[in-house]
Amino acid sequence: MSFSVGVAVLAAGKSKRLNLDISKILAPIQGKKLIEFVIESVKSVDDFSQMKTQITLVVGHLREAVEAHVSALYPEIKYAIQHEQKGTADAMRAYFNGHDSNKNFDYTLVLCGDTPLLRGEDLNQLFLAVKNDSALEAVVASFCLDNPFGYGRIVAGKKQGLRIVEEKDADSVLKKINEVNSGIYLIKTSYLLKMLESVNSNNAAQEYYLTDVFQEDHPVKSICFSEADSFLGINTLRELEAATRILRCRKVEQERAKGVIFVDSQRVLIDEDVQLSRGCIIGPNVCLHGKTQIGANVSIEMGVVVKDSIVDEQVNLLANSYLEGAHVRAGASIGPFARLRPAADIGEKCKIGNFVEIKKSTLEEGVKVSHLSYVGDAQIGAESNIGCGFITCNYDGINKHKTEIGKNSFIGSDCQMVAPVKLGNNTFVAAGSTITHDLNEGDFAIARSKQVNKAELAYRFLKKRI
Ligand code: UD1
Ligand code: CA
Repeated sequence: MSFSVGVAVLAAGKSKRLNLDISKILAPIQGKKLIEFVIESVKSVDDFSQMKTQITLVVGHLREAVEAHVSALYPEIKYAIQHEQKGTADAMRAYFNGHDSNKNFDYTLVLCGDTPLLRGEDLNQLFLAVKNDSALEAVVASFCLDNPFGYGRIVAGKKQGLRIVEEKDADSVLKKINEVNSGIYLIKTSYLLKMLESVNSNNAAQEYYLTDVFQEDHPVKSICFSEADSFLGINTLRELEAATRILRCRKVEQERAKGVIFVDSQRVLIDEDVQLSRGCIIGPNVCLHGKTQIGANVSIEMGVVVKDSIVDEQVNLLANSYLEGAHVRAGASIGPFARLRPAADIGEKCKIGNFVEIKKSTLEEGVKVSHLSYVGDAQIGAESNIGCGFITCNYDGINKHKTEIGKNSFIGSDCQMVAPVKLGNNTFVAAGSTITHDLNEGDFAIARSKQVNKAELAYRFLKKRI
């Protein structure tokens, strides 16, 4: 059986308890924003792409920033504005009033925007329940808590159905009920529209409760989940951290299943969109961020930070190196203590050693920059060796200029290239040279002042003789 589904994501609330200047659904979590996890959970429902669907975000508080972020990533999502936050049923009225077409879906899936741990597999169970029983008007995802304080309680009907009683409205008997409302529902749209007509605000909070759609003696039921994690709503920064930890654990499990070795998975940060490959070894205190992709059998030693970079197979990233927007090709070795900045393209089998900074430069296969150097806006040909203390003087205070060094060249220690400058293939630069003129293929250059030795003069400056 196939049916159409309108998805309402409620996200108009004020997020007061988070104490941030942003809507809580834009809170950072695992390298993304909270709302992205909710949307991804919906998109990963079985057969979702085959169903006729439409996701609509009900927005209100700080909605401009929410819409800007979400529409850039998910242009197909619609928005409905709830101007005043008068309760979850009022939010659903805004959802239907905003887009008449939302009334035409067979079912309406209602989610909260602040539940990043929700998974497609959780939602599948709600879909399964209505598929198996077409007479059901609505299902609510519930779970049991030892301390149910704050949640709406699921009160079973005498013969059938159920009602949901909010903490504020519950008497001491109802407060003892452990089964609670997750705030996630799958409801027949016709039933929801009919019930919304009569929802009033005669309750302790004087709000329009969506939960009033659930009534005794109606064909509605709860689907009780054994794990509460999926439904954790983020109201405080403490909860944000707890959810981040759970998501990270899930990510580590996923990567481990692919054959990734974590030396101590409790001490790594790995964003949701990072891709690792079989045979990688991840040391302690490693941070992998953004859209980083790591190839097979890469070894990452402790303290390495990688942001939005591509690292091909068999690379060694040695301790405490920092990579951002870089591409490191197969078999290269980076660090320890190396810094690769955006558009650093490090060729196959290159060796970048300690205290080397590389920015916007292409190093072809087998280049070595082993110690204490700055390489910026440069192109270095295959198999060239760059000595210790090398500097590209790429900036004249106004513009950046390029340094080009050919293949198989040797640059001695402590050389500077005053860019723009171009050295051909097979060139050799003597140590301590400041290069200001181009070199042709095969040239040898030495550009340092001549040494003068003065006999005995040292004793004038030394405090003692030995
Ligand atoms: C709600 C449920 C409660 C359930 C709990 C689960 C109701 C009446 N109660 O309570 O039974 O146990 O979720 O977390 O629904 N929102 C709007 N507009 C509004 C009010 C809320 O968009 O006018 C949005 C919020 O941004 C939030 C969601 O709806 O994403 C839930 O609202 P919230 O105020 O957090 O409801 P709870 O009191 O937690
Ligand atoms: Ca809540």
